[in-house]
Amino acid sequence: MAPVSLPIYRPDGVALSYAMRYTRPPMTPATATSCTPTHALKSPDTRIYVGDCRELLPAIPECAAGKIDLIFADPPFNWNRAYDKWDDAMPEDEYLQFTRDWLDACIVALSPTGSMWVNIPDDWAAEIVVHLKSRKLKMVNWCIWHYRFGQNTMGRFINSKVHVLYFARDPAKRTWNTDDILEPSDRATTYFDPRTLNKKTGKNGLRMPMDVWYGKYLGRIQGNNAERRANHDNQIPEVYLERVIRACSNENDLVLDPFLGSGTTSCVARELKRRSIGIEYSADNAKSAYDRIKAGTIRVKFGAPTQHSSAIFSPRNVKKDS
Ligand SMILES: C[S@@+](CC[C@H](N)C(=O)[O-])C[C@H]1O[C@@H](n2cnc3c(N)ncnc32)[C@H](O)[C@@H]1O
Repeated sequence: MAPVSLPIYRPDGVALSYAMRYTRPPMTPATATSCTPTHALKSPDTRIYVGDCRELLPAIPECAAGKIDLIFADPPFNWNRAYDKWDDAMPEDEYLQFTRDWLDACIVALSPTGSMWVNIPDDWAAEIVVHLKSRKLKMVNWCIWHYRFGQNTMGRFINSKVHVLYFARDPAKRTWNTDDILEPSDRATTYFDPRTLNKKTGKNGLRMPMDVWYGKYLGRIQGNNAERRANHDNQIPEVYLERVIRACSNENDLVLDPFLGSGTTSCVARELKRRSIGIEYSADNAKSAYDRIKAGTIRVKFGAPTQHSSAIFSPRNVKKDS
């Protein structure tokens, strides 16, 4: 293939060279028929498989049989990140084919009541939404994860969000646990509206979170964040996965993450008493995830659902101390 002549830029402004963009021959999904987890824990069943999720998904029995209750996928973004093993700088058409292949394998794995979430930046969100709709999955929410401290860019607005796409096989049959993910409402924390303290539902002062996610412990995991794992620069916050897992699965359900990374999904799933399957291309990342899962969560606790206010204004009409 001839070298590309025009510069191509990563969303954070770094120009990709030809070598950075094409260092590995295209892969085609294999058809493995059996596989063994590299790491496993019991009670609840927690398994990590090392390899390419396109090859492993058809070979893991529960995935092949469509028995996964909840899928959370945070794939490589093709941003030329220095992953331990994965080449994160494919030609665009190859990356899109890779994306369609793993999406299709996940769709096969999803149970009739299952939900599938994808964490993806602006670059690829539209293509993924169109593909999932073409496969007859139904969109429930198109959420945004808003974070501060994105890469500084002067020639364009700073990236400060990732799309959090929530699809279900059948919205009417999906698992959805309203009460487990409520948060304090602005009416309660900021405006002191008495109506919110006398709700028919009894959920006084609480509301469903909005579809833009930000706030305490929902920032990027960086600096001296207590959750931070060495050698994982794209770790997702625990409370983000807590929201997804509490809302869309029940105790003992089976959660799948085809791109396990530092292990956030399985770590939170285990704390919340869900079974989980994680797939990770890098053996070192998988071992790191396993160690993290054994150590347990930092913030999320089974018996104490996180309920942080996301209000952005100070409480109104509160007299300051003199
Ligand atoms: C964006 S990171 C996931 C981060 C994760 N959500 C967390 O909180 O740590 C993507 C991960 O997918 C892995 N990966 C890339 N391609 C893969 C593939 N085809 N199959 C399985 N894992 C893959 C990478 O090695 C990387 O660890």
